[in-house]
Amino acid sequence: MFNIIITENYDLVASEAFRIMKSVVTKGEPVLGLATGSSPIGLYKKMIADRNTNGTSYKKVVTYNLDEYIGIPRDHDQSYWTFMHENLFDGLNIPEANIHIPRGDAEDMEEECRSYEEKLQERVIDLQVLGIGSDGHIGFNEPGTPFDSVTHVTELTQQTRSDNARFFDGDIEKVPEKAITMGLASIMRARQIIVLATGASKADAVYGMIKGPQSEECPASILQDHSHVTVILDKAAASRL
Ligand code: F6R
Repeated sequence: MFNIIITENYDLVASEAFRIMKSVVTKGEPVLGLATGSSPIGLYKKMIADRNTNGTSYKKVVTYNLDEYIGIPRDHDQSYWTFMHENLFDGLNIPEANIHIPRGDAEDMEEECRSYEEKLQERVIDLQVLGIGSDGHIGFNEPGTPFDSVTHVTELTQQTRSDNARFFDGDIEKVPEKAITMGLASIMRARQIIVLATGASKADAVYGMIKGPQSEECPASILQDHSHVTVILDKAAASRL
């Protein structure tokens, strides 16, 4: 079941997401599931601004990231480790030991998948932040990924590599071909999920997630079975609903 919020623009999408985030991070010892990409940057900016203005503490927050590219080092300027530190963690006071990001540069990727999933199983994510790919992926669970998947290595689709080429000097050849990602079953264990999407290029995927048949061809459609999902959209992303 989806709670759908349609706003005028990207900044209002971020404001709605922040409202939900703030209610979670100010209670107890919150566990956050975090995404990279363009969609959550506005939310992350608001979290940092709120910490700077209101002193909101993140000392007790634990985070798990969804995914990481394989084949580039952690300190690469486009790794998700770098993205998360530049866009969020450097502006908050989360203890480094509480931050979990899967390693895409591990020697044994099978072992890395197993151990990341094991770390995930130690806690329940209170709030999972998701973007959605134009092909309907969540995390890097591309079309065809089984709904019962846990953390695994995945091959990125041409569509995803071309969408993400904008971060790699517009050159699809520079976009890694593989990634490690939390699985769909790993994501579904979260207590609450927010999906952020803006722009017309997301309209078909948003439609598939909410109104399409539930199918592995649209991985985000698995969320139809989750009891607490809020989808926050601008008008362009909501245009097919
Ligand atoms: C990122 C991730 C991806 C993105 C999706 C949308 O960690 O897991 O599923 O959320 O590709 O990306 P943007 O927000 O850049 O359009």
